[in-house]
Amino acid sequence: MKRVKIAEILSQPKVGETYLIKGWVRAFRSNRFIQLNDGSTINNIQAVVDFENFDEAILKKITTAASVGLIGVLTESQGAGQSVELQVSEIEIIGEANPDDVQRTVMQPKKHSLEFLREQAHLRFRTNTFGAVFRIRHAVSYAIHKFFNDKGFYYLHTPIITGSDAEGAGEMFRVSTLDPKNPPLTEDGAVNFKEDFFGKAVNLTVSGQLEAELAALALGQVYTFGPTFRAENSNTSRHLAEFWMIEPEVAFNDIHDNMDLAEEMLKYICQYVMTNCPDDLKFLNEREATEQQSKPQNERNELGLIERLQFVTANDFQRITYTEAINVLVNSNHYKKKKFQYEVEWGTDLQSEHERYLVEKEYKRPVIITDYPASFKAFYMRRNDHSEPGKETVAAMDILFPGIGEMVGGSQREERLDILKEKCAAFHIPEEELWWYLDTRKFGTVPHAGFGLGFERMVMFVTGMTNIRDVIPFPRTPQNAEF
Ligand code: 4AD
Ligand code: MG
Repeated sequence: MKRVKIAEILSQPKVGETYLIKGWVRAFRSNRFIQLNDGSTINNIQAVVDFENFDEAILKKITTAASVGLIGVLTESQGAGQSVELQVSEIEIIGEANPDDVQRTVMQPKKHSLEFLREQAHLRFRTNTFGAVFRIRHAVSYAIHKFFNDKGFYYLHTPIITGSDAEGAGEMFRVSTLDPKNPPLTEDGAVNFKEDFFGKAVNLTVSGQLEAELAALALGQVYTFGPTFRAENSNTSRHLAEFWMIEPEVAFNDIHDNMDLAEEMLKYICQYVMTNCPDDLKFLNEREATEQQSKPQNERNELGLIERLQFVTANDFQRITYTEAINVLVNSNHYKKKKFQYEVEWGTDLQSEHERYLVEKEYKRPVIITDYPASFKAFYMRRNDHSEPGKETVAAMDILFPGIGEMVGGSQREERLDILKEKCAAFHIPEEELWWYLDTRKFGTVPHAGFGLGFERMVMFVTGMTNIRDVIPFPRTPQNAEF
């Protein structure tokens, strides 16, 4: 007999039909009611066992977390809570679970803290919360591919091992096969990477953008979607050392086209999740609502999870320049009452407290900030022709989201070879290292633009999870690479 998934049975129940289902026992009540889950949906199916028909020895093995196969006829349910149930005629115990062992794990059916669940990341998939999060994570990933595919973008696989530091932040993980205790040295005592595997120093990529630009300047519109690594030692709820980034790059787009594309994509993802993940979303919505109850009134979210997604799809993002953002901040009561910890001044980067103020207090919606000072943005961003003297800005855009902060970072790229070379010099990037990148500006250079979406930050937004470690199966953060 062929196994049927629980999602399929519950979405189109055929009463009177005999089904084989397999899954893990969530609960077994009164020696009669099994709640079975197989991961295909957050919903369990209720299976009813008439204990007189089965050996005591078999029934004893139906314990929480055990895996079983059940054959039975689907009937309408008399009890509340479910419309159908399976009347079990055959039981196969597939894998037993010792109740004493289950006691010490997250599978024990009671409320666990997210921290405790993180310590058991290998088992947390079995919980409702993480089942919902990872089903939605899949849906977001699929939605992104669908969004770009439907628009005629090509998915480009950019290298994970690279010699360049695209973002210039120097926060890279070295990849080397040299013996760390006894590396070959140059005459002046430095490690001689010429003798390393690739004949040069290489690292794990911090961005696929530079390579994506090369492809976009021939294929027109491409996107990357791959693992990205940053060795920044920031132990925050929004940073991972290994995360996934989506980087579209489009020839002939300017910064305005770039903002339109990003806004459309973010709205599409929110809508996709609302349309395609209603059960998981409803569960997470209720989960968050319950959690909010235990917080003081002034710390509670104004909108629930689903309301926030609806709000994003229904409203335009606020678009302001960096200079306008500084003015808003400086004129705010918050500033006048000295409530910001960090200085607000034209020419310094916005801190997350400033970003949160703009998004959560001032505009109460996603905000796109453009035209940042060149000094703290990457070398490849396009110099604005309309910069004021001494206040050079670039065609950068950051998209800030409530509760998350920076969701997207992007820009129009510097397509003018002479200015790009100037920028390389100013950023101390040797031209020989980026000859291949500079070369593209010599053969039919065109204006082009792109951005990077932090995949986990997006999954945080659509699931309402507040720690980035809870939206990636196995988080990599400073001092933590378990599992
Ligand atoms: O703003 P970033 O650094 O931009 C780039 O890397 C560009 N090359 C993108 C482009 O224009 N093609 O990173 C883009 C996004 C951020 O806005 C953030 O959402 C996410 O990547 N991100 C991180 N997510 C999790 N953990 C980290 N350590 C992250 N660093 C950046
Ligand atoms: Mg950024």
